[in-house]
Amino acid sequence: MSLADRVRNPILKSRIMSAEAAAALIPAGSNVGMSGFTGAGYPKAVPKALARRIESLHAAGEAFRIGLWTGASTAPELDGALAKVDGIEMRLPYQSDPTVRKQINAGQMQYTDIHLSNVAQHVWFGFLGHLDVAVVEVAGILPDGRLIPSSSVGNNKTWLDQADKIILEVNSMQNAGLEGMHDVYYGTQLPPHRLPIPLTQPGERIGEAYLHCDLSKVIAVVETHQPDRNSAFAAPDEISQRIAGHIIDFLQQEVARGRLPAELLPLQSGVGNIANAVLAGLDAGPFKNLTAYTEVLQDGMLDMLRSGTLSMASATALSLSPKAMADFNERIDFYRERIVLRPQEISNHPEVIRRLGVIAMNAMIEADIFGNVNSTHVMGSSIMNGIGGSGDFARNAYLSIFMTPSVAKNGAVSCIVPMASHVDHTEHDVQVIVTEQGLADLRGLSPTQRARLIVEKCAHPDYRPALLDYFERGLRDAPGKHTPHLIDEALSWHSRYLESGNMHAADSLHAQLRLA
Ligand code: COA
Repeated sequence: MSLADRVRNPILKSRIMSAEAAAALIPAGSNVGMSGFTGAGYPKAVPKALARRIESLHAAGEAFRIGLWTGASTAPELDGALAKVDGIEMRLPYQSDPTVRKQINAGQMQYTDIHLSNVAQHVWFGFLGHLDVAVVEVAGILPDGRLIPSSSVGNNKTWLDQADKIILEVNSMQNAGLEGMHDVYYGTQLPPHRLPIPLTQPGERIGEAYLHCDLSKVIAVVETHQPDRNSAFAAPDEISQRIAGHIIDFLQQEVARGRLPAELLPLQSGVGNIANAVLAGLDAGPFKNLTAYTEVLQDGMLDMLRSGTLSMASATALSLSPKAMADFNERIDFYRERIVLRPQEISNHPEVIRRLGVIAMNAMIEADIFGNVNSTHVMGSSIMNGIGGSGDFARNAYLSIFMTPSVAKNGAVSCIVPMASHVDHTEHDVQVIVTEQGLADLRGLSPTQRARLIVEKCAHPDYRPALLDYFERGLRDAPGKHTPHLIDEALSWHSRYLESGNMHAADSLHAQLRLA
């Protein structure tokens, strides 16, 4: 389909220009809200043109940086390109780009890591400052100016509503069959006028298939024809398969005990290889007619929809490998019947997650023996990605499950530690911890009961004695016996890793930790 077919509104057709001309309209110091969620539906031409412009301005000694707001992570053409030219002053609400991460951790870029359901409302509340420009990828424009959303919805509704100026990228590589897959809810109000979100089933539609925008704010329309960042998933390894196995056994037991229905409750699955392996395990398992109320649809969910394990899936974005994307494009009519893409304020809405009774399964960096979870920071000070939607789901879920291999860095680091070096999910929001070693069901347990179970079920055997020793000495020597920490020693567990001076010095570090 040509651009002329994709841009059917005459006013917007008259605003078609090059990416360079559009990028020239973004003022220095602007807050720019760009589309994009987990490598899907991000603008592909304007950010690169803006990066080229910033590079030449910087070469001429002129300062130029923007505040970059998105749905979640994007891709090298957006985050990477702008970071490489030192063009980002403030980044929010989530990232996973190596250059961005490096600059944040070097203190060269500010980063506000926000629960993804909160972003839109914080912009509406005025908490994040003024949004100057929106740069949003769409799959097409209707004659009346309504927009066909792309492969993610994210915060686009809010960006289009709140920004002073709008730049649209019309990507003719996005399947025209996406039309009708989205559900954009325009009913959210600000307190004290809020009403309940009328969504009672994962597949329900409560809004419209299109995004609206005030045409007078559109300053440019740019044509692109480029694929999303579709990266392949690793084939599930033994560790992921064992994690998946423990979760599936646990869910079966919950059904047997009458605490879950046979078709479970709507699933939320975090991103990454382990999450994808859990989905593959579920697909091969005994469950049928499941539903998903999640943030991102990965390959595993498409497989489950095809096999009938999953009957319906709600999300805000696709995050597919090239192979899964080809299948998605080929059978888009099938998937349109079974997938609803919503704004992230709805896909991750605490009220809806609580109402539906979602089973939340998210990955983590480490957990401590009392059940506090760190999803974001390595060694307490370096950000990895961000909290994303994990907090939206974990705190409000029917069941909140966190998973990780028991060790990282080839065994040099235990992912079960005495005290988490940073806490994203407190002991109050974590019900189940699972590693390839086993699963700890923490529901109803006190901190000391949890500690014994987590060490016994989840810690790697290499680290169990040191963790148990810490716990027993805490029970004896800590001033408080409710959560018996030996504070100085708890912190030194991590600093021993730092002292090795090399994050990848697995052997020497392993030796040090074993000596502990
Ligand atoms: N100490 C030090 N490094 C650790 C570690 C630990 N305890 N645990 C993991 N890591 C490192 C890994 O070695 C790896 O590093 P590398 O990139 O240098 O190889 C990196 O962290 C990622 O770990 P990995 O095991 O590959 O897991 P992952 O890709 O599944 O990512 C999270 C795990 C926690 C980083 C990721 O899930 C995340 O960002 N979560 C927060 C957001 C979220 O939950 N989103 C979904 C909500 S809908």
